[in-house]
Amino acid sequence: MQATAIDLKEEILRLKKERNAVILAHNYQDGEIQDIADYVGDSLGLAYKAQDTPAEVIAFCGVHFMAETAKILNPNKTVILPDKDAGCSLEESCPAEDLEAFLKANTEKNYYVIAYINCSGGVKALCDVICTSGNAVKIVNKAPADRPILFVPDANLGAWVMEQTGRKMDLWQGSCYVHVEFTQNSINKIKAEYPDALVVAHPECTTAVRLLADEVCSTEKMVAYCKNAPVKDIIVVTESGMLHRLQKEAPDKNLIPGPTDHCACNDCKFMKMNTLQKLHDCLKNLSPSVEMPEDIRARAEAPIIKMLEQSK
Ligand code: 13P
Ligand code: SF4
Repeated sequence: MQATAIDLKEEILRLKKERNAVILAHNYQDGEIQDIADYVGDSLGLAYKAQDTPAEVIAFCGVHFMAETAKILNPNKTVILPDKDAGCSLEESCPAEDLEAFLKANTEKNYYVIAYINCSGGVKALCDVICTSGNAVKIVNKAPADRPILFVPDANLGAWVMEQTGRKMDLWQGSCYVHVEFTQNSINKIKAEYPDALVVAHPECTTAVRLLADEVCSTEKMVAYCKNAPVKDIIVVTESGMLHRLQKEAPDKNLIPGPTDHCACNDCKFMKMNTLQKLHDCLKNLSPSVEMPEDIRARAEAPIIKMLEQSK
């Protein structure tokens, strides 16, 4: 017999206790997953939570690179994820072998490599430091002045960070397939419908879209921005799951999802692979779990720790 939604939630909470698990969820997860999680946040907040948790099992509701980051920080813990195929187009755009070959072909440049956290453990292992959208400006400002920077894999985030810091960087040409769907046309149209609205956009958007925004920031910073905004209408140009978190935190605001040219809002198919049923099953079976070769994990850990220290 099919379990009811209430049974399923109760069973998840029972298994969480039995497993001594913590449930971490990204801001783009479905509302029902956010509501059952112990902590909901952006990539940076989630990495700090993963580093600090006393739980023995981390059930990570997000995409694979986020769960992998938790594993890199916790090699002796079990890190599980509802769907092992929840990937990321940015991660796909920069295979570790390609980055390694590029660095070998350009050894004379002596690049300081900064990787956006949306990449594989293999890529992290090749980098000097990691960043998220929440701390990228800070991390780039702390890069050695006498070395050229290679920024991977998101060219849009990289372009925004160059503007913010005035630091020139060579950019890997990756992108988020969700955020590049927002266009100048689709955002101008919604702005015309809500002429008094402020616009907040994620830095993974293209420059043309970013220039239409009043604020550009990470998903977590959007929460404070919307809470403190002096207007009621706010157009939120990022993945649609964000609206659930924002509506809870800023209930007095009218939050309007940023549309694309084809759709009133925009989902990440990878984030949406996770369901309550799959969360239940992974807690029950302790599978799928994140596993990785120890030498790669150890090499990937150093630039993540460096980021966590540099962004305090
Ligand atoms: P945040 O770190 O801002 O939550 O972004 C993660 C992400 O995947 C955006 O697409
Ligand atoms: Fe990756 Fe884009 Fe999905 Fe974020 S929204 S997880 S960057 S594909």
